[in-house]
Amino acid sequence: MTEAKPIKTPTLPDAQTVTEVKHYTDRLFSFRCTRPATLRFRSGEFVMIGLMGAPDPKTGKQKPLLRAYSIASPSWDEELEFYSIKVQDGPLTSRLQHIKVGDEVILRPKPVGTLVHDALLPGKRIWFFATGTGFAPFASLLREPQTYADYDEVIITHTCREAGELTYGAEIIEGLKTNELLGEVIGEGFWKKIKYYPTTTREESAKMGRITDLMRSGEAFADLGVEPICPKNDRAMICGNMAFNLELKEMLEDYGLEEGANSEPKTYVVEKAFLD
Ligand code: A2P
Repeated sequence: MTEAKPIKTPTLPDAQTVTEVKHYTDRLFSFRCTRPATLRFRSGEFVMIGLMGAPDPKTGKQKPLLRAYSIASPSWDEELEFYSIKVQDGPLTSRLQHIKVGDEVILRPKPVGTLVHDALLPGKRIWFFATGTGFAPFASLLREPQTYADYDEVIITHTCREAGELTYGAEIIEGLKTNELLGEVIGEGFWKKIKYYPTTTREESAKMGRITDLMRSGEAFADLGVEPICPKNDRAMICGNMAFNLELKEMLEDYGLEEGANSEPKTYVVEKAFLD
């Protein structure tokens, strides 16, 4: 008689458990997962996350399928949050969009990135410029006490194709008003420092147009009631699609800002939003 061997379920390396999933549109969703006790990161940084890939047809071996994702939760949060696009034929997001509470995701606990306060010199006002899922690092930084300790004013612009794509960001900002923990840590009414400027380009909304065009025409500054960007007062972080990043980078340099890095803080920083 042979004894039946128990089947060993393969355990994922660096596995974390999904605790919440929210779908916003047919192109966007967010999820939360457990945070490794050893993971320390600075608000605004990204990590590699993913799922186990399909078995290799020849060897049967599986390799993790990983992509860079900004951590959307702040550094003090017990869990981790991510905000993702859904690409129907994307190698990772075509599968990641179907994750459910209790499922496991792979997370490589090596946070990096330039959208961090350390990469900027002190200033009066900080601008967060996002398109689409580029809002993610700012979802982290908007919930980070240092943002309000360092600046008198926090301006967040978010340009999306459609109005539904603004929901995630709008909810994060609305949530700040009732976040008792942050109110206690930073000071009641801290959120009054925020000026939120959402715009859409392909669907009617309260404000239409690309932020770049609205800045060039002066309309964005007039709407926000602030002076145009100047290197003395203003600091900026950019996170969006490639064309947007390049265009805005050039505009900021025309205003006199200079690109900073962790090793050499200056007046603006830029990072590409995850796209796949
Ligand atoms: P548009 O609809 O005019 O292309 P995407 O979903 O393709 O990443 O785009 C997100 C948002 O970024 C869209 O509203 C898009 O506007 C806008 N966008 C794309 N390229 C630029 C750019 N060079 N400057 C400013 N906004 C841009």
